[in-house]
Amino acid sequence: MNLESYSILESMFVVLLIMSPAYLANTIAVLTGGKYPIDQGKLHSDGNRILGDGKTWSGLIGGTIGGMLVGYGVIVFIHEYIMESLDISILFLLSFGALLGDITASFYKRRQNLQRGDKFPLLDMYDFIFMSLLLCFIFERVWLLSWILDGWVPLFTILVLTPFLHRGVNIIGYKIGVKNEPW
Ligand code: CTP
Ligand code: MG
Repeated sequence: MNLESYSILESMFVVLLIMSPAYLANTIAVLTGGKYPIDQGKLHSDGNRILGDGKTWSGLIGGTIGGMLVGYGVIVFIHEYIMESLDISILFLLSFGALLGDITASFYKRRQNLQRGDKFPLLDMYDFIFMSLLLCFIFERVWLLSWILDGWVPLFTILVLTPFLHRGVNIIGYKIGVKNEPW
């Protein structure tokens, strides 16, 4: 089975569901994060932190495992039979890829003299989804081609809805007090 067995509206929903480990990984990292900065407080040659205190091992590890587990739970709960095409390596690539994208973006932000938490509109919204998809393209290409790069619907859905999802989740995190900024 692949995405072709669904109507357009159904496929949009299925795509978001499939990508849920990536969306959840960043959110869970906010909850588990804050301990053991990955750059160990070190500075880059430009005098700024390499990554900053917003990128920690507790966020990376907790977010990766949490994204895989909660993402798996959500997918099984809502749409059990999608799981037939989703194995643990894909859950890992989606979840870990999201956090790797976020870390890569922080490295770039620090090189632009932006402090932890400073806004960087497009980068902040797409960094995680881009790296998730890139890792899947490298390591699980057959899966990616049949579920996400199959026609224009999945990619279009991801590109259009990701900023809204990202912002929505961050506003909730901000309101309940686990996130310092609403972006
Ligand atoms: N977090 C973490 N480790 C990660 C990712 C996130 O500890 N790998 C936690 C940090 O406490 C971080 C919060 O989640 O402050 C929010 O994540 P994010 O918005 O990505 O980080 P920022 O604080 O905005 O830092 P940056 O400017 O580097 O993106
Ligand atoms: Mg941020």
